[in-house]
Amino acid sequence: MPFINDQIKANEEQIERQKDPTSRFTFKTEDVMDHLTSSIYGQDHVLKHLEDMLHIVKADIGDPYRPLYVALFLGPTGVGKTETVRALAKSIHGDPEHYCRVDMNTLSQEHYAAALTGAPPGYVGSKEGSSIFDNELIEGSFSKPGIVLFDELEKASEPVIQALLNVFDTGTLILTSGEQRIDFHNTLIFMTSNIGSRDMGDYIDPTVRKKMKRLFHRSKPTHWKMKEDSLVKQLINEELEDTFPPEFINRIDDVLTFQWLKKDTMREILASQLHLLNGRLKKKNYHLEVDEDVRQLLISKGYDQKYGARALKRCLRKYLELPVALAMRKIPNGALRASLSNGEVVVSPLEGED
Ligand SMILES: Nc1ncnc2c1ncn2[C@@H]1O[C@H](COP(=O)(O)OP(=O)(O)OP(=O)(O)O)[C@@H](O)[C@H]1O
Ligand SMILES: [Mg+2]
Repeated sequence: MPFINDQIKANEEQIERQKDPTSRFTFKTEDVMDHLTSSIYGQDHVLKHLEDMLHIVKADIGDPYRPLYVALFLGPTGVGKTETVRALAKSIHGDPEHYCRVDMNTLSQEHYAAALTGAPPGYVGSKEGSSIFDNELIEGSFSKPGIVLFDELEKASEPVIQALLNVFDTGTLILTSGEQRIDFHNTLIFMTSNIGSRDMGDYIDPTVRKKMKRLFHRSKPTHWKMKEDSLVKQLINEELEDTFPPEFINRIDDVLTFQWLKKDTMREILASQLHLLNGRLKKKNYHLEVDEDVRQLLISKGYDQKYGARALKRCLRKYLELPVALAMRKIPNGALRASLSNGEVVVSPLEGED
Protein backbone atom coordinates (compact mmCIF):
# COMPACT_ATOMS: atom_id res chain seq x y z
CA MET A 1 0.00 0.00 0.00
CA PRO A 2 2.17 2.82 -1.23
CA PHE A 3 -0.03 5.61 0.17
CA ILE A 4 0.20 4.41 3.76
CA ASN A 5 3.93 3.86 3.38
CA ASP A 6 4.34 7.40 2.05
CA GLN A 7 2.37 8.74 4.97
CA ILE A 8 4.47 6.80 7.49
CA LYS A 9 7.65 8.05 5.83
CA ALA A 10 6.42 11.65 5.86
CA ASN A 11 5.55 11.34 9.57
CA GLU A 12 8.98 9.92 10.33
CA GLU A 13 10.65 12.75 8.45
CA GLN A 14 8.48 15.25 10.33
CA ILE A 15 9.61 13.76 13.65
CA GLU A 16 13.27 13.87 12.51
CA ARG A 17 12.87 17.54 11.59
CA GLN A 18 11.45 18.36 14.99
CA LYS A 19 14.62 16.91 16.51
CA ASP A 20 16.69 19.39 14.53
CA PRO A 21 14.53 22.39 13.65
CA THR A 22 17.43 24.30 12.06
CA SER A 23 17.54 22.08 9.00
CA ARG A 24 15.00 20.84 6.51
CA PHE A 25 17.32 17.88 5.80
CA THR A 26 16.76 14.72 7.77
CA PHE A 27 20.14 13.05 7.24
CA LYS A 28 22.59 13.14 10.12
CA THR A 29 26.11 14.06 9.04
CA GLU A 30 27.61 11.70 11.64
CA ASP A 31 25.56 8.74 10.37
CA VAL A 32 26.42 9.47 6.76
CA MET A 33 30.11 9.70 7.67
CA ASP A 34 29.93 6.44 9.65
CA HIS A 35 28.60 4.73 6.57
CA LEU A 36 31.15 6.35 4.26
CA THR A 37 34.12 5.47 6.47
CA SER A 38 32.98 1.88 6.76
CA SER A 39 32.55 1.45 3.01
CA ILE A 40 35.31 3.56 1.40
CA TYR A 41 38.91 2.82 2.30
CA GLY A 42 42.17 4.64 1.68
CA GLN A 43 40.54 7.89 0.53
CA ASP A 44 40.35 9.73 3.85
CA HIS A 45 41.14 13.15 2.36
CA VAL A 46 38.12 12.81 0.02
CA LEU A 47 35.85 11.81 2.88
CA LYS A 48 37.04 14.80 4.93
CA HIS A 49 35.93 17.15 2.13
CA LEU A 50 32.60 15.37 1.92
CA GLU A 51 32.11 15.75 5.66
CA ASP A 52 32.70 19.51 5.38
CA MET A 53 30.25 19.65 2.50
CA LEU A 54 27.60 17.75 4.48
CA HIS A 55 27.90 20.21 7.39
CA ILE A 56 27.29 23.13 5.04
CA VAL A 57 24.43 21.43 3.18
CA LYS A 58 22.80 20.34 6.42
CA ALA A 59 22.94 23.91 7.75
CA ASP A 60 21.06 24.92 4.60
CA ILE A 61 22.78 28.28 4.30
CA GLY A 62 24.25 27.94 0.80
CA ASP A 63 23.41 30.12 -2.22
CA PRO A 64 19.80 29.16 -3.04
CA TYR A 65 20.31 29.82 -6.76
CA ARG A 66 23.08 27.28 -7.23
CA PRO A 67 23.26 23.50 -6.82
CA LEU A 68 23.97 22.39 -3.24
CA TYR A 69 27.42 21.10 -4.20
CA VAL A 70 29.54 20.48 -7.26
CA ALA A 71 32.51 18.11 -7.05
CA LEU A 72 34.87 16.61 -9.58
CA PHE A 73 36.40 13.23 -8.68
CA LEU A 74 39.67 12.50 -10.42
CA GLY A 75 41.90 9.48 -10.21
CA PRO A 76 42.58 6.07 -11.67
CA THR A 77 40.09 3.32 -12.38
CA GLY A 78 38.60 1.13 -9.64
CA VAL A 79 39.59 3.20 -6.61
CA GLY A 80 36.17 4.14 -5.25
CA LYS A 81 34.91 7.18 -7.18
CA THR A 82 31.54 5.70 -8.14
CA GLU A 83 31.42 3.68 -4.93
CA THR A 84 31.62 6.91 -2.89
CA VAL A 85 28.54 8.29 -4.66
CA ARG A 86 26.73 4.97 -4.12
CA ALA A 87 27.65 5.03 -0.43
CA LEU A 88 26.28 8.59 -0.12
CA ALA A 89 23.05 7.56 -1.88
CA LYS A 90 22.74 4.59 0.45
CA SER A 91 23.20 6.64 3.61
CA ILE A 92 20.99 9.54 2.53
CA HIS A 93 18.28 7.66 0.63
CA GLY A 94 18.66 4.12 1.96
CA ASP A 95 19.48 2.76 -1.50
CA PRO A 96 22.90 2.81 -3.21
CA GLU A 97 21.20 3.12 -6.61
CA HIS A 98 19.15 6.15 -5.63
CA TYR A 99 21.07 8.62 -7.79
CA CYS A 100 20.94 9.62 -11.43
CA ARG A 101 23.96 8.50 -13.44
CA VAL A 102 24.56 10.33 -16.67
CA ASP A 103 27.17 8.68 -18.84
CA MET A 104 29.01 11.31 -20.84
CA ASN A 105 29.64 8.66 -23.47
CA THR A 106 25.91 8.40 -24.06
CA LEU A 107 25.52 12.13 -23.84
CA SER A 108 28.13 12.58 -26.52
CA GLN A 109 25.79 10.84 -28.94
CA GLU A 110 24.53 13.65 -31.03
CA HIS A 111 20.83 13.53 -30.32
CA TYR A 112 21.25 13.48 -26.53
CA ALA A 113 23.71 16.34 -26.67
CA ALA A 114 21.32 18.23 -28.92
CA ALA A 115 18.48 17.82 -26.47
CA LEU A 116 20.70 19.22 -23.75
CA THR A 117 22.38 22.02 -25.58
CA GLY A 118 19.74 23.48 -27.78
CA ALA A 119 19.03 21.67 -31.02
CA PRO A 120 16.02 23.07 -32.85
CA PRO A 121 12.74 21.33 -31.91
CA GLY A 122 12.12 18.47 -34.26
CA TYR A 123 15.79 17.60 -34.48
CA VAL A 124 15.91 13.85 -35.04
CA GLY A 125 15.83 12.11 -31.71
CA SER A 126 15.79 15.32 -29.69
CA LYS A 127 12.85 14.09 -27.64
CA GLU A 128 14.76 11.10 -26.27
CA GLY A 129 17.20 13.49 -24.70
CA SER A 130 15.12 13.86 -21.59
CA SER A 131 15.15 10.14 -20.85
CA ILE A 132 18.71 10.09 -19.53
CA PHE A 133 17.77 12.50 -16.77
CA ASP A 134 15.61 11.25 -13.97
CA ASN A 135 14.01 14.36 -12.49
CA GLU A 136 12.99 12.70 -9.26
CA LEU A 137 16.48 11.42 -8.48
CA ILE A 138 18.08 14.74 -9.42
CA GLU A 139 15.65 17.01 -7.62
CA GLY A 140 15.39 14.96 -4.42
CA SER A 141 12.74 16.02 -1.93
CA PHE A 142 12.19 18.72 0.67
CA SER A 143 14.01 16.69 3.28
CA LYS A 144 16.61 14.95 1.10
CA PRO A 145 19.02 16.25 -1.51
CA GLY A 146 19.01 14.69 -4.98
CA ILE A 147 22.23 13.17 -6.30
CA VAL A 148 23.54 13.16 -9.85
CA LEU A 149 26.74 11.65 -11.23
CA PHE A 150 28.17 12.74 -14.57
CA ASP A 151 30.57 9.92 -15.40
CA GLU A 152 33.60 10.18 -17.71
CA LEU A 153 33.47 13.92 -17.99
CA GLU A 154 36.42 14.01 -20.40
CA LYS A 155 34.13 12.49 -23.06
CA ALA A 156 31.74 15.48 -22.94
CA SER A 157 31.74 17.76 -25.96
CA GLU A 158 32.28 21.49 -25.64
CA PRO A 159 28.56 22.42 -25.89
CA VAL A 160 27.75 19.88 -23.19
CA ILE A 161 30.40 21.41 -20.93
CA GLN A 162 28.82 24.81 -21.60
CA ALA A 163 25.40 23.44 -20.67
CA LEU A 164 26.83 22.04 -17.44
CA LEU A 165 28.52 25.33 -16.68
CA ASN A 166 25.13 26.93 -16.96
CA VAL A 167 23.69 24.38 -14.54
CA PHE A 168 26.43 25.21 -12.00
CA ASP A 169 25.61 28.89 -12.37
CA THR A 170 21.84 28.87 -12.34
CA GLY A 171 20.92 25.48 -10.92
CA THR A 172 18.57 24.91 -13.84
CA LEU A 173 18.68 22.93 -17.05
CA ILE A 174 16.13 23.57 -19.73
CA LEU A 175 15.85 20.80 -22.27
CA THR A 176 15.10 21.85 -25.81
CA SER A 177 12.99 18.78 -26.45
CA GLY A 178 9.99 20.38 -24.83
CA GLU A 179 9.29 22.73 -22.03
CA GLN A 180 11.03 20.39 -19.67
CA ARG A 181 13.07 21.96 -16.91
CA ILE A 182 15.32 20.13 -14.52
CA ASP A 183 15.97 21.78 -11.23
CA PHE A 184 19.43 21.24 -9.69
CA HIS A 185 19.00 23.63 -6.73
CA ASN A 186 18.52 20.75 -4.32
CA THR A 187 21.20 18.57 -5.89
CA LEU A 188 24.63 17.23 -5.00
CA ILE A 189 26.44 17.10 -8.34
CA PHE A 190 29.36 14.72 -8.77
CA MET A 191 31.46 14.33 -11.87
CA THR A 192 34.22 11.79 -12.49
CA SER A 193 37.12 11.74 -14.87
CA ASN A 194 40.19 9.59 -15.42
CA ILE A 195 42.25 12.45 -16.84
CA GLY A 196 45.81 12.48 -15.65
CA SER A 197 45.67 8.91 -14.41
CA ARG A 198 47.82 7.60 -17.26
CA ASP A 199 50.60 9.84 -16.02
CA MET A 200 49.97 8.53 -12.52
CA GLY A 201 50.00 4.97 -13.91
CA ASP A 202 53.37 5.53 -15.51
CA TYR A 203 54.60 6.92 -12.28
CA ILE A 204 53.69 4.01 -10.05
CA ASP A 205 54.11 1.01 -12.33
CA PRO A 206 57.67 -0.32 -11.90
CA THR A 207 57.62 -1.97 -15.32
CA VAL A 208 57.11 1.38 -16.97
CA ARG A 209 59.24 3.42 -14.62
CA LYS A 210 61.54 3.89 -17.56
CA LYS A 211 58.87 6.04 -19.06
CA MET A 212 59.37 8.41 -16.18
CA LYS A 213 62.29 9.82 -18.03
CA ARG A 214 60.00 10.72 -20.87
CA LEU A 215 57.44 12.00 -18.44
CA PHE A 216 60.00 14.23 -16.80
CA HIS A 217 61.17 15.26 -20.19
CA ARG A 218 57.72 16.45 -21.01
CA SER A 219 57.29 18.07 -17.65
CA LYS A 220 58.76 21.35 -16.62
CA PRO A 221 61.97 21.82 -14.61
CA THR A 222 59.79 22.95 -11.70
CA HIS A 223 58.46 19.37 -11.50
CA TRP A 224 61.80 17.70 -11.15
CA LYS A 225 62.31 18.06 -7.45
CA MET A 226 58.74 17.47 -6.44
CA LYS A 227 57.73 14.64 -4.12
CA GLU A 228 55.56 11.86 -5.56
CA ASP A 229 52.24 13.16 -4.19
CA SER A 230 52.70 16.75 -5.19
CA LEU A 231 54.01 15.81 -8.63
CA VAL A 232 50.93 13.67 -9.29
CA LYS A 233 48.70 16.51 -8.13
CA GLN A 234 50.56 18.98 -10.31
CA LEU A 235 50.37 16.77 -13.42
CA ILE A 236 46.66 16.25 -12.91
CA ASN A 237 46.03 19.96 -12.46
CA GLU A 238 47.89 20.73 -15.64
CA GLU A 239 45.90 18.15 -17.58
CA LEU A 240 42.70 19.45 -16.03
CA GLU A 241 43.50 22.95 -17.25
CA ASP A 242 44.31 21.59 -20.71
CA THR A 243 41.02 19.70 -20.90
CA PHE A 244 38.41 22.08 -19.48
CA PRO A 245 37.97 25.85 -19.73
CA PRO A 246 39.02 27.81 -16.62
CA GLU A 247 35.51 29.19 -16.07
CA PHE A 248 34.25 25.59 -15.83
CA ILE A 249 36.94 24.55 -13.31
CA ASN A 250 36.28 27.73 -11.37
CA ARG A 251 32.68 26.81 -10.69
CA ILE A 252 33.51 23.45 -9.13
CA ASP A 253 33.43 23.51 -5.31
CA ASP A 254 35.92 20.65 -4.83
CA VAL A 255 38.27 18.95 -7.25
CA LEU A 256 39.27 15.78 -5.39
CA THR A 257 41.90 13.31 -6.50
CA PHE A 258 41.44 9.70 -5.45
CA GLN A 259 44.63 7.84 -4.60
CA TRP A 260 45.90 4.54 -5.91
CA LEU A 261 44.93 1.76 -3.54
CA LYS A 262 47.81 0.51 -1.42
CA LYS A 263 48.18 -3.10 -0.27
CA ASP A 264 46.97 -2.32 3.27
CA THR A 265 43.87 -0.72 1.83
CA MET A 266 43.22 -3.83 -0.27
CA ARG A 267 43.25 -5.84 2.97
CA GLU A 268 40.52 -3.64 4.40
CA ILE A 269 38.50 -3.82 1.20
CA LEU A 270 38.87 -7.62 1.19
CA ALA A 271 37.61 -7.80 4.78
CA SER A 272 34.63 -5.65 3.84
CA GLN A 273 33.90 -7.76 0.73
CA LEU A 274 34.05 -10.92 2.86
CA HIS A 275 31.63 -9.33 5.30
CA LEU A 276 29.23 -8.63 2.42
CA LEU A 277 29.65 -12.19 1.12
CA ASN A 278 28.80 -13.48 4.57
CA GLY A 279 25.69 -11.31 4.56
CA ARG A 280 24.58 -13.03 1.34
CA LEU A 281 25.51 -16.48 2.68
CA LYS A 282 23.55 -15.88 5.88
CA LYS A 283 20.35 -15.70 3.86
CA LYS A 284 21.09 -19.26 2.76
CA ASN A 285 22.00 -20.36 6.31
CA TYR A 286 25.75 -20.48 5.76
CA HIS A 287 28.65 -18.73 7.41
CA LEU A 288 32.16 -18.59 5.99
CA GLU A 289 35.44 -18.28 7.87
CA VAL A 290 38.42 -17.44 5.71
CA ASP A 291 41.95 -18.45 6.76
CA GLU A 292 44.71 -15.88 6.79
CA ASP A 293 46.68 -17.63 4.02
CA VAL A 294 43.60 -17.58 1.77
CA ARG A 295 43.30 -13.85 2.42
CA GLN A 296 46.93 -13.40 1.49
CA LEU A 297 46.46 -15.38 -1.71
CA LEU A 298 43.45 -13.28 -2.66
CA ILE A 299 45.34 -10.06 -2.03
CA SER A 300 48.48 -11.12 -3.88
CA LYS A 301 46.46 -12.29 -6.89
CA GLY A 302 44.01 -9.43 -6.70
CA TYR A 303 46.42 -6.61 -6.06
CA ASP A 304 46.83 -4.74 -9.24
CA GLN A 305 47.53 -1.14 -8.56
CA LYS A 306 46.65 -0.24 -12.13
CA TYR A 307 43.15 -1.72 -12.03
CA GLY A 308 42.22 -0.87 -8.46
CA ALA A 309 39.85 -3.02 -6.47
CA ARG A 310 38.12 -4.45 -9.54
CA ALA A 311 40.94 -7.01 -9.89
CA LEU A 312 40.34 -8.05 -6.28
CA LYS A 313 36.64 -8.56 -6.95
CA ARG A 314 37.43 -10.74 -9.95
CA CYS A 315 39.81 -12.84 -7.83
CA LEU A 316 37.26 -13.20 -5.11
CA ARG A 317 34.84 -14.61 -7.62
CA LYS A 318 37.29 -17.01 -9.19
CA TYR A 319 39.23 -18.22 -6.15
CA LEU A 320 36.66 -18.05 -3.36
CA GLU A 321 33.08 -17.76 -4.57
CA LEU A 322 33.49 -20.66 -6.99
CA PRO A 323 34.79 -23.19 -4.40
CA VAL A 324 32.14 -21.93 -1.95
CA ALA A 325 29.41 -22.43 -4.55
CA LEU A 326 30.66 -25.96 -5.28
CA ALA A 327 30.91 -26.79 -1.57
CA MET A 328 27.32 -25.62 -1.04
CA ARG A 329 26.18 -28.39 -3.35
CA LYS A 330 27.58 -30.96 -0.91
CA ILE A 331 27.14 -29.22 2.45
CA PRO A 332 23.48 -28.36 3.04
CA ASN A 333 24.08 -25.47 5.48
CA GLY A 334 26.15 -24.33 8.46
CA ALA A 335 29.60 -22.91 9.03
CA LEU A 336 32.22 -23.26 6.29
CA ARG A 337 35.94 -22.73 6.32
CA ALA A 338 38.08 -21.67 3.40
CA SER A 339 41.64 -22.94 3.78
CA LEU A 340 44.61 -23.34 1.52
CA SER A 341 45.79 -26.77 0.41
CA ASN A 342 48.58 -27.14 -2.17
CA GLY A 343 47.99 -23.59 -3.32
CA GLU A 344 44.27 -24.21 -3.91
CA VAL A 345 41.37 -22.81 -1.89
CA VAL A 346 39.43 -25.65 -0.28
CA VAL A 347 36.04 -25.10 1.33
CA SER A 348 34.96 -27.59 3.96
CA PRO A 349 32.69 -27.67 7.02
CA LEU A 350 34.21 -25.68 9.88
CA GLU A 351 35.70 -28.03 12.46
CA GLY A 352 33.34 -28.84 15.27
CA GLU A 353 30.40 -28.44 12.84
CA ASP A 354 28.61 -31.30 11.11
N1 LIG B 1 38.47 2.90 -1.88
C1 LIG B 1 37.63 1.87 -1.93
N2 LIG B 1 37.02 1.42 -0.82
C2 LIG B 1 36.16 0.37 -0.87
N3 LIG B 1 35.85 -0.30 -1.99
C3 LIG B 1 36.42 0.09 -3.13
C4 LIG B 1 37.32 1.19 -3.16
N4 LIG B 1 37.73 1.36 -4.41
C5 LIG B 1 37.11 0.44 -5.15
N5 LIG B 1 36.31 -0.34 -4.39
C6 LIG B 1 35.54 -1.51 -4.85
O1 LIG B 1 35.84 -1.68 -6.26
C7 LIG B 1 34.70 -1.51 -7.07
C8 LIG B 1 35.02 -0.56 -8.21
O2 LIG B 1 35.19 0.76 -7.71
P1 LIG B 1 34.47 2.05 -8.36
O3 LIG B 1 33.27 1.61 -9.14
O4 LIG B 1 34.22 3.04 -7.30
O5 LIG B 1 35.61 2.51 -9.35
P2 LIG B 1 35.83 3.96 -9.98
O6 LIG B 1 36.85 4.66 -9.15
O7 LIG B 1 34.52 4.62 -10.17
O8 LIG B 1 36.52 3.55 -11.36
P3 LIG B 1 36.17 3.98 -12.88
O9 LIG B 1 36.96 5.22 -13.14
O10 LIG B 1 36.68 2.82 -13.70
O11 LIG B 1 34.70 4.16 -12.98
C9 LIG B 1 33.61 -0.96 -6.18
O12 LIG B 1 32.39 -1.55 -6.47
C10 LIG B 1 34.05 -1.28 -4.76
O13 LIG B 1 33.47 -2.47 -4.33
MG1 LIG C 1 33.24 4.84 -11.83
